[in-house]
Amino acid sequence: MSLDLRNVSVRLDHGTQLLSHVSLTLRAGEALGLVGESGSGKSMTAFAIMGLFPGPGLAVSGGEIWLDGQDLRSLATAAMRRMRGARIGMVFQDPSSFLDPLLPVGTQIAEALVVHGAAGIAARVRDMLALVELPAALGARYPHELSGGQRQRVLIAAALAMRPGYLIADEPTTALDATVQADVLDLLARLQSELNLGVLLISHDLAVVAQRCQSVAVMYAGRVVEQGPAAALFATPRHPYTQGLVHSTLATDADARRLFSIPGRVPAATAPIPGCRFHPRCPRARIDPCQTEVPPLMPRDDGRADACWRSELGQDAWSDG
Ligand SMILES: Nc1ncnc2c1ncn2[C@@H]1O[C@H](COP(=O)(O)OP(=O)(O)O)[C@@H](O)[C@H]1O
Ligand SMILES: [Mg+2]
Repeated sequence: MSLDLRNVSVRLDHGTQLLSHVSLTLRAGEALGLVGESGSGKSMTAFAIMGLFPGPGLAVSGGEIWLDGQDLRSLATAAMRRMRGARIGMVFQDPSSFLDPLLPVGTQIAEALVVHGAAGIAARVRDMLALVELPAALGARYPHELSGGQRQRVLIAAALAMRPGYLIADEPTTALDATVQADVLDLLARLQSELNLGVLLISHDLAVVAQRCQSVAVMYAGRVVEQGPAAALFATPRHPYTQGLVHSTLATDADARRLFSIPGRVPAATAPIPGCRFHPRCPRARIDPCQTEVPPLMPRDDGRADACWRSELGQDAWSDG
């Protein structure tokens, strides 16, 4: 059982390519972390899976998306609508903007069930509140009466109300303070194992993903540039971009962490960069092939993959010598 993206591309108005050949596999019961600087295409990947985009003109322009062996791109609109929520739930960074301020939160969890025509709704709402460790009485309260952490739990309850096999959590704790963040991540980990849920945990925070995920995919400028088991990938990152992220966020030496940042910034999706899109920021880049040919995500023989022409050199791109 898995959710598989193969070479998924997303375009804007048949022009600008926002995602290019994104491939990932999320297995049931596993947490897959999706990391990368802001603008790298993490949210766009989530929208592509759900088949719902935040603006006009955005569409999946290529590739395949398979959900437990079913080709989602072949589904008609109505079937796709039934699939969302029922088979893949989604939660976002800011729970407030997805909750109606005028409705009790229990009613909003019920709505997630009503649109799918489920029976025994009142009992199911109580079950869902219990599942996310909220008291049943809280269902009668309004969003503004809840804390940020409680609101995110309500959204998780609504996303899981139809018992989907997969949950996409896009920066689910970024808006919360540190202790609440840990509680919500603990909750997600418990749900992952209790419900055998596949969790796509999208985060710009490498430390969160390193702690919480079994696998990782690193995105840069609309592409997956490295993927593999979390422990191995963070211990010995191979793509210069991943190496740079690790230096700036996970280095055990706090001074080293403070002093390091990857020069430059993520290019705009419209920027015409030939070859590897990371080459203007990369200390390892050479003219040929880095500036001329796009490196595909190349599987290595140890179950990891990276999209760097020169990663086989095996060195840290950012250390001298
Ligand atoms: N509604 C939109 N319309 C057009 N382009 C968008 C829209 N939302 C995001 N983008 C572009 O798509 C790219 C990926 O963005 P996004 O997936 O939001 O990044 P991330 O979630 O990793 O921060 C960026 O270049 C961004 O500018
Ligand atoms: Mg995002």
